[in-house]
Amino acid sequence: MIDPKTVPTMKLDGGRIPCVGMGTFGSDRVSPEEVAGAVAGGIRAGYRLFDCAACYGNEEQIGNVFRAAMDEGIVERGDLFLMTKVWNDMHREVEKSCLKSIHDLQCDYLDMLFIHWPFPNYHAPFCDVNSRNPDSRPFSVEEFLDTYRQIEALVDRGLVRHIGISNMTIPKLEAVLDKVRIRPAACESEMHPCFQQQELLEYLKAHDILPIGYMPLGSPRRPERDIEPGDAVDMQMPALVEIARAHNVHPAIICLKWALGRGVLPIPFSVHNYEANLEAAVTFRLTEEEMAKIAELECGSRLVKGQVFLWEGAQSWHDLWDEDGVITGCSDC
Ligand SMILES: NC(=O)c1ccc[n+]([C@@H]2O[C@H](COP(=O)([O-])OP(=O)(O)OC[C@H]3O[C@@H](n4cnc5c(N)ncnc54)[C@H](OP(=O)(O)O)[C@@H]3O)[C@@H](O)[C@H]2O)c1
Repeated sequence: MIDPKTVPTMKLDGGRIPCVGMGTFGSDRVSPEEVAGAVAGGIRAGYRLFDCAACYGNEEQIGNVFRAAMDEGIVERGDLFLMTKVWNDMHREVEKSCLKSIHDLQCDYLDMLFIHWPFPNYHAPFCDVNSRNPDSRPFSVEEFLDTYRQIEALVDRGLVRHIGISNMTIPKLEAVLDKVRIRPAACESEMHPCFQQQELLEYLKAHDILPIGYMPLGSPRRPERDIEPGDAVDMQMPALVEIARAHNVHPAIICLKWALGRGVLPIPFSVHNYEANLEAAVTFRLTEEEMAKIAELECGSRLVKGQVFLWEGAQSWHDLWDEDGVITGCSDC
């Protein structure tokens, strides 16, 4: 057990947030009950920040855990920082999605509500990589802002404390940031040693948006649809393994310390190692030399390519990520 008061915090919207959170995506492999069991253990281990999502299909089970922890007097609602996300099929019904998450998580209000993806392109749970939804379409500024404004209204009503965005690119941020009334407090993006997104990270920091890193360990048990033969395996990179050996810890701990060292808030998922992951925040720091060695592991190994969000006429998953600085297919940018 780690005293939550000893877990360092990061700046968020003028307030503070614990510097490590627990992910709750079972990756289509871990059942809702097992994830909820990890959350129960996580609260007792000292986690206070939890990254949930409507589409992870386990908010009801996790909500029962929060309720039980509050009933037992282990935590109060105000001790927890609960984040969840609006799934792509609810962009026109954000209030409904928010109220369902609040109901399922049994939490009265959300500390942060994210737009999970910046477009409404929907895929069914457990779908395979070739599945396409005929309604999918490219990013639209107006559609995004319509969804965003619905969350702003929920902030006005006190149901949501902070607004989060996720899976954004710099061109998309440039297209929307000066058009919102309430600035986004955080942006959740894939970030691990073999996919660092350094430019995006610097952009977020420069705009006072907290960078939250998902798949901080390189997600070795991610869904089948997100696994390709050329993907790097972060925790097996020799430089990382060597640093881990020198400190007598698992490479996962080095990934987390590296994230923290560059100002990224990691949200590792774990059912077996969550206590060690929280401990990573309160023990030794990596040296500048170690940080520099890990920086060299960048190899563009994006794991969530997003093929299932592609629209008719899109060439490849690269179209989702605006790699040449232009938002592909956008009709109102
Ligand atoms: N915004 C988005 O679009 C988005 C997308 C993807 C993910 N996310 C969020 O990010 C979270 C994390 O991503 P992720 O779950 O895909 O990947 P991850 O956190 O990079 O990796 C999780 C895996 O690493 C293992 N692991 C964790 N700690 C370990 C340790 N100390 N030693 C050895 N192995 C360890 C876990 O196994 P054990 O369970 O056996 O420990 C699990 O299989 C998700 O749960 C979700 O909340 C957000």
